[in-house]
Amino acid sequence: MTDYKYLMDKAKEVSANAYTPYSKFNVGACVLADSGNIYTGCNFENASYGLSICAERNAIGTAIANGEKKIKAVAIYSPNMENCSPCGACRQVIYEFKSDEGVVVLTELNGEIISHSIDDLLPGGFSL
Ligand code: THU
Repeated sequence: MTDYKYLMDKAKEVSANAYTPYSKFNVGACVLADSGNIYTGCNFENASYGLSICAERNAIGTAIANGEKKIKAVAIYSPNMENCSPCGACRQVIYEFKSDEGVVVLTELNGEIISHSIDDLLPGGFSL
């Protein structure tokens, strides 16, 4: 049984490291890969605003760099917003790496973990 709370706790922890001098909006993400390993990432911004990278894509990039091929779950947390749900670009990137059982996307609302499948968050996602 996957410990969603553990993933959310890791997402919270890493959100403190976000580099957000422009938006002041911190996000942390924790990915559970098919292997059972977990990887975290935070958002980091740039003076050239469009170059900012979201927490989810940072965490997924780290998973891929460590040899992972598929992901089972991703927890997302922002201290600045309840139920911080992935942006459209991140939904597409999550979709790319979904495991055979799909990907569970976890957010937190009123201290409760909410889960959605990536297929619900991105119906008809693009894949080749
Ligand atoms: N952000 C994320 O890290 N993940 C999301 O899914 C939504 C947005 C970041 C990007 C930017 O650094 C800040 O939050 C405000 O948009």
